[in-house]
Amino acid sequence: MVRKYVELLVILVWLVSQVCFADPPYEICSSHENGTAFHNNLNNLLQSLPSNASSSKFYNTSYGNATERVYGLYMCLNFISNKACQNCIATAAEDILKLCPQSHEAVLWEESCQIRYSNTIFFSKLNATGNIGKDNLQNVSEPHKFQSSVNQILSNLTATASANMYATGEAPFGDETIYALVQCTRDLSATDCSKCLKSAIEEIPGCCYGSIGARVLSRSCYLRYEFYPFYLGATGPLSPSPRTNQSKNADSSTSSKVWIISGTAVVLGLAIILIYCMCFIRNKKTYMRGQGVFHPPEDSPYIDFGSLCVATNNFSDSNKLGQGGFGPVYKGILSNGQEVAIKRLSTNSEQGSEEFINEILLIMKLQHKNLVKLLGFCVDGGEMLLVYEYMPSGSLDVLLFDPKKRAKLGWKKRLDIIDGLARGILYLHEDSRLKIIHRDLKASNVLLDSNMNPKISDFGMAKIFAGNEGEANTGTIVGTYGYMAPEYAMEGLYSIKSDVFAFGVLVLEIITGKRNAGFFHSKSSPSLLAYAWHLWNDGKGVELKDPLLGDSCQEDEFLRCMNIGLLCVQEDAYVRPSMSSVVLMLKNESAMAGHGQPERPPFSVGKFNDIDGPNPHSKQCSISFLTVSEILPRD
Ligand SMILES: *[C@@H]1O[C@H](CO)[C@@H](O)[C@H](O)[C@H]1NC(C)=O
Ligand SMILES: *[C@@H]1O[C@H](CO)[C@@H](O)[C@H](O)[C@H]1NC(C)=O
Ligand SMILES: *[C@@H]1O[C@H](CO)[C@@H](O)[C@H](O)[C@H]1NC(C)=O
Ligand SMILES: *[C@@H]1O[C@H](CO)[C@@H](O)[C@H](O)[C@H]1NC(C)=O
Ligand SMILES: *[C@@H]1O[C@H](CO)[C@@H](O)[C@H](O)[C@H]1NC(C)=O
Ligand SMILES: *[C@@H]1O[C@H](CO)[C@@H](O)[C@H](O)[C@H]1NC(C)=O
Ligand SMILES: *[C@@H]1O[C@H](CO)[C@@H](O)[C@H](O)[C@H]1NC(C)=O
Ligand SMILES: *[C@@H]1O[C@H](CO)[C@@H](O)[C@H](O)[C@H]1NC(C)=O
Repeated sequence: MVRKYVELLVILVWLVSQVCFADPPYEICSSHENGTAFHNNLNNLLQSLPSNASSSKFYNTSYGNATERVYGLYMCLNFISNKACQNCIATAAEDILKLCPQSHEAVLWEESCQIRYSNTIFFSKLNATGNIGKDNLQNVSEPHKFQSSVNQILSNLTATASANMYATGEAPFGDETIYALVQCTRDLSATDCSKCLKSAIEEIPGCCYGSIGARVLSRSCYLRYEFYPFYLGATGPLSPSPRTNQSKNADSSTSSKVWIISGTAVVLGLAIILIYCMCFIRNKKTYMRGQGVFHPPEDSPYIDFGSLCVATNNFSDSNKLGQGGFGPVYKGILSNGQEVAIKRLSTNSEQGSEEFINEILLIMKLQHKNLVKLLGFCVDGGEMLLVYEYMPSGSLDVLLFDPKKRAKLGWKKRLDIIDGLARGILYLHEDSRLKIIHRDLKASNVLLDSNMNPKISDFGMAKIFAGNEGEANTGTIVGTYGYMAPEYAMEGLYSIKSDVFAFGVLVLEIITGKRNAGFFHSKSSPSLLAYAWHLWNDGKGVELKDPLLGDSCQEDEFLRCMNIGLLCVQEDAYVRPSMSSVVLMLKNESAMAGHGQPERPPFSVGKFNDIDGPNPHSKQCSISFLTVSEILPRD
């Protein structure tokens, strides 16, 4: 109940922050036009900058001939990753064209980068006019004392910054800590960097007196301070806010903005008070802001980056559990002692888009005993971190494909695993209100809890990473060689029946203990699927049995599983059973009657293969193999 409210509120807060705190970007545009040649050069220059941003936090360059030449530079805040820098600059380049359509000079700031251009050379020249100050919504209780601490730390940082054009530092203030950052564009001399920062500091009393946090945006430098270590990736209780004195060049809608902002502030305030109250009533736990870091209530899906660093020993290699589908996975222990697995993914989406957050919240709603529970998440720059329940027995592939470990997996256990998997997938396909196609079912995505119950992981990820096309053709193929249905591997067509195919492969792997990928028996049985199908047709199905199963396995049960596996991997997606029929067939032999003999599976997906005589698809197969191997940097 409480969780639902918190989720609702989180969505609300995000929506509001997306709509009303949509700045950044902040921009200053000149009103003078220059010719089309200049604008062509500008386009070229802006297009080239993101590629430089992938390796450098600062770059200045120029483009074009004498009078139409355009000079430009960008700067990313030093603490963000190169990937985040590249994304930020790409966005900034787009925004500056949109927001300053006919300007001969402009500067624009995003959340963690800035971009600037002009028709005259401005590199190494300081222009400290037109700074923009942005303050936070909340005020401190002792503003005078606070501002003097802020001044001191910023002055100290200004002195330090002359070496690297960058400095961060912290200073205690009462129970809190002030975290501050200063940075200059690298074309400036040390002296000009100091001058720029000094003039930015002078801006503070005017824009931001008494506010708990602020930033000043200047053409050649940047400063910011908060009560939480934003430069270590922590996210604050609220986004930077807009009670601000936009520069003279700001658009005329300022007063309407103020209204929206006040309204928003009220809504936000109410939302936060609600969250406070509910957590307080439920756990008698206060909503702390100890050490200035945002500590969400226990029920909130947000977990701040700082806590995850602590939980994983700074993402140390010794905590690494492995490399999952979309990024590395670490084991962590949260401050409440709970063991978790933390998946670290890089995203292309800009910091926490509303759509992405909504997607995560939806995935968190999926609750089934055969799905790995998603406990929370964190968005940090271009990265997102997903926090899952920890599965002590590891993944199925490790167990299944190691003879020593597999020997301990008796028939009963294997049947339980098959049954649990079928139920988990059925829930994704039909029983949850969201129809989710997994798209990357495989043994390494099946985790086992301490009782060896199977739980499916990585569900919903394909949707986030490959878009929302639904059952359609998709340019992005996520999937793993050996488990991909032919229609998916070759044409990018996926549906719930592609998951059924992958499930069929898993069933055959579980009952044989052999991997489909890399299996080769003979020329006529180049894959596990082909081998199984030939044995089945020759009435010799029991020969497929994993010898390690011994007598624990009854022949009729084994053949039923094999039959179900083969029905699921039929080449024609339409004749594959649905997961609900699979669950029925597993439970009840008589349900098998409705399905005839399994038709031929694809003998090899993505391998050139003309062994079975002329194959109309063989050419396509070889092409798709190239495609498939190219897009599979994993496993
Ligand atoms: C563009 O800027 C250059 C350099 O300031 C100037 O010489 C030129 O006349 C301008 N062109 C137009 C069309 O304003
Ligand atoms: C910047 O990008 C341009 C064009 O992509 C390239 O020629 C240049 O070498 C890059 N410079 C740096 C410092 O990365
Ligand atoms: C970058 O700016 C410096 C001056 O600060 C200048 O010497 C250099 O030529 C510029 N680089 C480019 C590629 O224009
Ligand atoms: C620069 O001038 C030369 C000769 O006038 C011309 O061929 C070239 O296209 C111009 N380059 C750009 C980027 O405008
Ligand atoms: C600084 O930039 C502004 C806007 O481009 C310009 O109007 C002003 O003259 C510049 N000041 C100096 C000292 O260059
Ligand atoms: C914070 O202080 C400013 C000026 O000192 C005042 O205008 C504003 O209303 C205060 N905000 C809050 C939330 O108290
Ligand atoms: C600033 O530097 C002075 C002298 O180096 C030091 O005493 C002071 O504590 C520093 N203040 C802050 C806020 O870091
Ligand atoms: C806000 O900006 C206006 C000009 O737009 C200026 O006159 C005023 O002094 C500024 N106020 C503060 C508090 O900086």
